[in-house]
Amino acid sequence: MAVADNQNSLVATPRGPTLLEDFILREKITHFDHERIPERIVHARGSAAHGYFELTRSLKRYTTARLFTAVGQRTPVFTRFSTVAGGAGSVDTPRDVRGFAVKFYTEEGNFDLVGNNIPVFFIQDAMKFPDLVHSVKMEPDRAFPQAASAHDTFWDFISLTPESMHMIMWAMSDRTLPRSLRMIEGFGVHSFRLLDAKGNSTFVKFHWRPKLGIQSTVWDEALKLQAADNDFHRRDLFESIQAGAFPEWELAVQLFTEEQAEAFPFDHLDPTKIVPESLVPLQVIGRMVLDRWPDNFFAETEQVAFCPANLVPGIEFSNDPLLQGRLFSYLDTQLIRLGGPNFHQIPINQPKCPFANHQRDGHMQMQVHKGRVNYEPSSLQEDSPRADRRTGFRHHATPPDDGAKGRQRPESFADHYSQPRMFFTSLEAPEQAHLGVGAGVRTVQGGDAPGCASAWSATCATSTRGWRSA
Ligand code: HEM
Repeated sequence: MAVADNQNSLVATPRGPTLLEDFILREKITHFDHERIPERIVHARGSAAHGYFELTRSLKRYTTARLFTAVGQRTPVFTRFSTVAGGAGSVDTPRDVRGFAVKFYTEEGNFDLVGNNIPVFFIQDAMKFPDLVHSVKMEPDRAFPQAASAHDTFWDFISLTPESMHMIMWAMSDRTLPRSLRMIEGFGVHSFRLLDAKGNSTFVKFHWRPKLGIQSTVWDEALKLQAADNDFHRRDLFESIQAGAFPEWELAVQLFTEEQAEAFPFDHLDPTKIVPESLVPLQVIGRMVLDRWPDNFFAETEQVAFCPANLVPGIEFSNDPLLQGRLFSYLDTQLIRLGGPNFHQIPINQPKCPFANHQRDGHMQMQVHKGRVNYEPSSLQEDSPRADRRTGFRHHATPPDDGAKGRQRPESFADHYSQPRMFFTSLEAPEQAHLGVGAGVRTVQGGDAPGCASAWSATCATSTRGWRSA
């Protein structure tokens, strides 16, 4: 029904009062009052785009996941980049890790690769995540700084957490001052498993590599950009897509067996460690192109719900204790953020393949389920959804480790310093100087060494190559 007047409230006399019976005014204001939803507890500030993933090399030997076996097939994706610490309205350019989350809408359901632009993480165990995030977010009494890690509570936590050494060096390097979101790498961070039809498992690490190369700004440039344009990265991504200069990444994998992993001089289940490319080379298996800006920021970029537990048959998680905690956290937080158990029915979250289950009712149920059967086992309805041992998702039959139950860290997680050293020695001299160590420069956020304040610094030569001068 169209309204006859969208300019004036219903009033008793020309000069008021406004009448309670004005249901049109009340409905309009009520809806407006409820326009906001809670922002993400981390990664609140983000920008996203639609696109596709095209497989160029089959992983058929290792996995049944069709996404990774049908060469030439294009799988639609929705990719969201984010900062971690700031609120949804914070600036785009602080020194911060960038989230790199990809939702693949595969024929077999959604697979979410929820990664960062740094290949390791600050902590080894999910138990520490709330402490880490509390320490880096604005301090609770003064409510600043917003979106920046340069403050006492963060350094207090980091200085008392030796396992953060590797990540903090990446975080203080040029990596956290990207020149463009189109020029960042992405990493799945944890080891995942690929499973073949017989259930044989191969470990896999995922890497996104930008076609434009990795480029960063220096600190002074980041400050100027921050002052000039709060939306610098969002605008850059939007404008490049609108101009047809579609950002592109290669997807590469590192594949290794359980036996190979046992011979590594570190534990690959420890998320503060990389698997150096000199031990396990990268194999490029496909490319991702982002070619369409969302129609609506709220409906898509804000409501998208990534979750490391969104897997398809043939891909599984590993025992990495950080990843194991994440498997719980995302669904839990999204129940609150998106208001109930049916958020997977929001168009941006819905699989693009047919799906069915016996989940019913709840807030904002959008589906009209038909028939009497909403349970299993059942015999009354032929087309009722059922588990399928042949094509359904299966877990790897991982034999239990030796040892007793307890709150503990394995001894294999104890070396916090070899890889940070490797990272540092693998940097070029200007990069070391930017880190605030090489040139003897020490500023809170890692200042620029003399002679390095040139225009864009197309540096970041290192990646996960590691070991170079070890
Ligand atoms: C135990 C450790 C972690 C926990 C408990 C955790 C928890 C969370 C939570 C609650 C959110 C907000 C989700 C939402 O509201 O939709 C989030 C977002 C995110 N997390 Fe984590 N996280 C952890 C570690 C990590 C790690 C290691 C990575 C990278 C590998 C990561 C990458 C991301 C990304 C990219 C997002 C933003 C997703 C988006 O764009 O919507 N997180 N995380």
